[in-house]
Order: sequence, then C-alpha cells, then structure tokens
Amino acid sequence: MATDDIRTTVREKYGAMARAGSSCCGPATTGCCAPAADPAALATAIGYDAGDLARILPEGANLGLSCGNPGAIAALRPGETVLDLGSGAGFDVFLCGPKVGAAGRVIGVDMTPDMLAKARANTAGYTRRTGLANVEFRMGEIEHLPVADASVDVVISNCVINLSPDKPQVWREIARVLKPGGRVAVSDMVLLKPLPEGVRAAIEAYIGCIAGASLVDDLRAMMAAAGLADIRLTPKPEYVATLTAGDDPLYREVAAALPAGSGPADYITSMDIAAMRAKACCAPGCCSG
Ligand SMILES: C[S@@+](CC[C@H](N)C(=O)[O-])C[C@H]1O[C@@H](n2cnc3c(N)ncnc32)[C@H](O)[C@@H]1O
Repeated sequence: MATDDIRTTVREKYGAMARAGSSCCGPATTGCCAPAADPAALATAIGYDAGDLARILPEGANLGLSCGNPGAIAALRPGETVLDLGSGAGFDVFLCGPKVGAAGRVIGVDMTPDMLAKARANTAGYTRRTGLANVEFRMGEIEHLPVADASVDVVISNCVINLSPDKPQVWREIARVLKPGGRVAVSDMVLLKPLPEGVRAAIEAYIGCIAGASLVDDLRAMMAAAGLADIRLTPKPEYVATLTAGDDPLYREVAAALPAGSGPADYITSMDIAAMRAKACCAPGCCSG
C-alpha cells in the first residue's frame, strides 16, 4: 500500500473507533481492529493505577487502544512540557497532566479529526476533575509535528509509531522537537522476528498495531540515526499475554496464521522505548548545537 493510502485507512479506522466510543470498529467477531472489550481492565493489566484512572480520566478518554504505560517510564517533573504522539481521546495526556502540574503543559497531536474532537470534548471533564487547564490537542501528523524545534522536555506515545508509514521521519521529528537533554518515553509494538507474509499483508493486522511494527534492530537503528542516545528497549510481555489469554479476535486470527507450535508472543511484544536527545550536537540535522 502507498504511504498516503496507509494514512487514509488508519485515519478512517481510528475515526470509526472514536465515533463508536470503543476500540472496535466493527462486529467483534471480525477482529477488525485493536483490542479491549474492557478498556479499564486492559489498562490495569498493562500497569496503570486503577485509582488514577478513576480519579483523573474523564468518561470516554480510555478507548482501550494503549499497549503500555509511557507515563510510568517518563519520570515526569512539575513544570515540564510533554508531547504525546497520536494522543487519541486524550488518555495519556490527561494522566500526565497532574504529574507536570499547573506550571507544566501536555500537548497531544493526532491526525484523526474524530479523535481530536473527542479529546477536546473530554478536556472540560479533565479540568473539572483536576482543577488543571494544562492540556491541549493539536491536529497533525507525527511525521510533521506542529511543534517548535527544541521545545519539549519529554515525548511520549502509546501504540502509535507502528502505524506510521514513515517511521524514520517520526524519529527525526522526535529528535527535532526535544530540547537537548530531553527524554523519549514511548510504548509501542515491536517485532522480535519477521511476521509471515500472510499476517504482514493483512490490513486488519496493520490497524491492530501488529503488521506495521518494526523489528527491534531496525527500531534501534532508526532512533540512533535520528541522533537519539542512551536507547533502552524493554519488552513488556503482559500486553500480548493479556490479549492472547482473553481470546481477542485479532490475536486469535493472527495465531491461526502462524506456524504450528508458535504464537503471537513469539513474534511481537509491547516495549518500553526510552532514550534522550544528547546535550551536545549529535547528528546532522537533529541538533541546533
Ligand atoms: C492505537 S491508537 C492509540 C491512541 C492513544 N495513544 C491511546 O493510547 O489511547 C492510535 C492513534 O494514533 C493516531 N495516529 C495514527 N497514525 C498517526 C499519524 N501518522 N499521525 C498522527 N496520528 C496518528 C490515530 O488517529 C489514533 O488516534
């Protein structure tokens, strides 16, 4: 599929999920897209604090589309500026808001108009619950971030970069917007070994954050080429384990297409992806000096 066709399909499918208010864009039996019959249960299974979810999140912000907990690896401090790539209905933006406090800011970027509308509509509920007005949502592609150079302390993202048709460009953009010394705290799906062609070519597997995932070594190389340093990749097997054990329709279909004796966890995992933009100049084009 051409780059623009991938983006259009991703936008259409995630727009449908935003309008449906859940993670499924079709009958559950089609396994058409991402997981989570019970978004709160999935979130706690992948490390979110149930108390935070109940206290901070407005209704409808958790669509069950996350595969990790980037806020947990970000070590956020009051006053910091955080950027969430592919912010969806605002899930991690709202959960990070209280961590940076009134002096900080969390900016969400998403290319899907219906997701953006949902996140913006959810903002009033976040402010009512927390008393904070420190979040905003911008329309944009993560390959062309609507954010100034060297203006962000921490880039987070949750199960989004795998969906990009131009991942090296996403990592260059991350390096561009980070301040020198700024941090990357991303959760995403990553391949442990190449998927069979039948899975790689399935659009449902692409939308469901499986077929577009990078191999671990390719991911590391893209991050390094963008000028990021101190790269740490940590597998978080609980996400795939939860979906497989829960008989998620997409994971069931993928499992059926894999060689006998193997399962999704042999091929794909959620990972915590941490790095920083070096303080000194690191690579052509990514540093201002
Ligand atoms: C799997 S959902 C994750 C949403 C959110 N991070 C969460 O955890 O709830 C992917 C989101 O990324 C957005 N997205 C996918 N590709 C994108 C791109 N190239 N640029 C901007 N947003 C993108 C989609 O519109 C969707 O809202």
